[in-house]
Amino acid sequence: MENKNIYKEFAHIYSKGQYPEYSRKMSELLPSILRQFKVTPKKILDIACGEGSFALEMAIKGFQVTGIDRSADMLRIARKKTKKKKLKVKLIQQDMCSLKFSEEFNLVTCWFDSLNYLLENKDLENTFLGVSRALKEGGIFIFDMNTIYGLSVQWQENPSTVEQDIPRMLEIHQTKYNPKEHIATLKITVFIKKNEEWIRIDEVHKERGYTLNEIRQCLNKANLKEIACWGSLGSKTEPTPKTGRVWFVARKTEDR
Ligand SMILES: C[S@@+](CC[C@H](N)C(=O)[O-])C[C@H]1O[C@@H](n2cnc3c(N)ncnc32)[C@H](O)[C@@H]1O
Repeated sequence: MENKNIYKEFAHIYSKGQYPEYSRKMSELLPSILRQFKVTPKKILDIACGEGSFALEMAIKGFQVTGIDRSADMLRIARKKTKKKKLKVKLIQQDMCSLKFSEEFNLVTCWFDSLNYLLENKDLENTFLGVSRALKEGGIFIFDMNTIYGLSVQWQENPSTVEQDIPRMLEIHQTKYNPKEHIATLKITVFIKKNEEWIRIDEVHKERGYTLNEIRQCLNKANLKEIACWGSLGSKTEPTPKTGRVWFVARKTEDR
């Protein structure tokens, strides 16, 4: 049941806040990675696409984009934005642990710690197997994840922070970490003024940290061959023990 009841009312706050900046940045950095690995994708699948910022940016660049997400509320915002911008993006409600595509895409992406929402190793494995099914031979998968260091140290540096404090809204984040399970809990509380009334919204998000080894084992099982692992997408440097977020690039290989 964990993580099933999230990105509901918070979806609207997410789309209006600074959060989508991250995936917009990814759409700017992506072309250099595609050049580096000599991939010229036409069809892109963005898993856990959220409110669609990345998918829309890629559609503007002329790619055929499909986005999937579990949250109906995030997808509703994505659809509204797609319509408003008169773009064509296929948006489907799907759980990334059971992707239902076969050999359609040259590129699959997953941004902004979405994979950390998978709390069981089996779920990560199933997601990678689904990505592999969705990819054409030679196609690539690019994703980022928060590291165990990021969740256990960086996230805990300020156990309570005010994320946004604007006249009609106050957003507070509180975090804790379970070192046995490598699971960080983020409690989001938002007070939002609607007409003259303040409304309170609470959501609890859980993110699991995986070792690089665990991630690599799941990639391996899905015939996804790692071709890069970076601690920064801008400088493409290797991760260090104090890296908070890692980016992986993996290529679909032939079945063994
Ligand atoms: C931090 S948001 C990132 C959204 C988007 N990728 C971005 O960069 O803005 C995490 C997203 O993962 C989605 N998500 C979490 N678990 C999921 C699952 N099992 N299947 C599909 N989507 C999931 C949430 O609904 C949410 O939209």
